[in-house]
Amino acid sequence: MKLSKNKILITGATAGIGEALLNKFLSLDNHVIALGRNEAKLKELARKDKRIIPFTCDISKSEDLDELIIFLEQNHPDTNILINNAGIQYNYHFEEEAQLLGKIEHEINVNLIAPLKLIALLLPILKLNDNAAIVNVSSGLGLVPKKQAPVYCGTKAGIHIFSKSLRYQLDHIRVFEIIPPLVDTQMTEGRGKGKISPEQLVDEFIAAFKRDRYEINIGKVKLLKFLNRWLPSLAESIMKKGGE
Ligand SMILES: NC(=O)c1ccc[n+]([C@@H]2O[C@H](COP(=O)([O-])OP(=O)(O)OC[C@H]3O[C@@H](n4cnc5c(N)ncnc54)[C@H](OP(=O)(O)O)[C@@H]3O)[C@@H](O)[C@H]2O)c1
Repeated sequence: MKLSKNKILITGATAGIGEALLNKFLSLDNHVIALGRNEAKLKELARKDKRIIPFTCDISKSEDLDELIIFLEQNHPDTNILINNAGIQYNYHFEEEAQLLGKIEHEINVNLIAPLKLIALLLPILKLNDNAAIVNVSSGLGLVPKKQAPVYCGTKAGIHIFSKSLRYQLDHIRVFEIIPPLVDTQMTEGRGKGKISPEQLVDEFIAAFKRDRYEINIGKVKLLKFLNRWLPSLAESIMKKGGE
């Protein structure tokens, strides 16, 4: 992949891994369409750098996605990279959660349905541009789950398998997957040990993205994959209590 002179749409660019991706891509001379629900944060980001195009959007709402596509078709038909990064994680026990149905629906909408809809809606635009790519952010928990977040782990397993299959289908658009370990962001606040920073993740991603490595195992995910292949019960018992 060419790392400069792209127009990149990043979901969840207002915090954590998304904000670190935004900063890195700006430093590499790209334009970034930054998405999130936090309008104040988006405005603050856009004030700092005119190459940031803010767009307030709740990706779990179809009407927001429709508005986004019209905005892109009219103003940014040169968008060539989509990064599906936004995500949420609820930790609860299936037998004990009072808001179970609402939580199931919301987590699946944000983590799985919205990224797939965004890909479907953006394909006609991506197809017209050179150096086109889709980057999906999954998780080590999509490979080996933890106990406290079954729906989250299920959505990330879905993104993992979907990304592989879509890669087989698309000829001219490259499909990448970032598989992070525990990263120090709002999502993991107060949980887990041995976290890496979002910036460390992004540096590792960029090195692999540049070399067209499609399935990008970040940090300890490499070890997780090795263990899961050769000692799966050990991998499961470590991840069961996982902190992410
Ligand atoms: N942190 C980890 O250890 C870890 C590990 C593996 C995978 N991941 C994955 O990495 C991605 C980023 O996570 P993070 O740790 O950076 O999380 P984070 O710090 O909590 O940030 C989440 C981002 O998603 C956005 N977002 C959430 N719901 C949204 C919605 N309905 N519509 C639009 N934007 C929404 C938030 O923006 P607004 O609040 O402005 O809407 C925010 O920018 C997620 O997909 C997560 O599952 C994280």
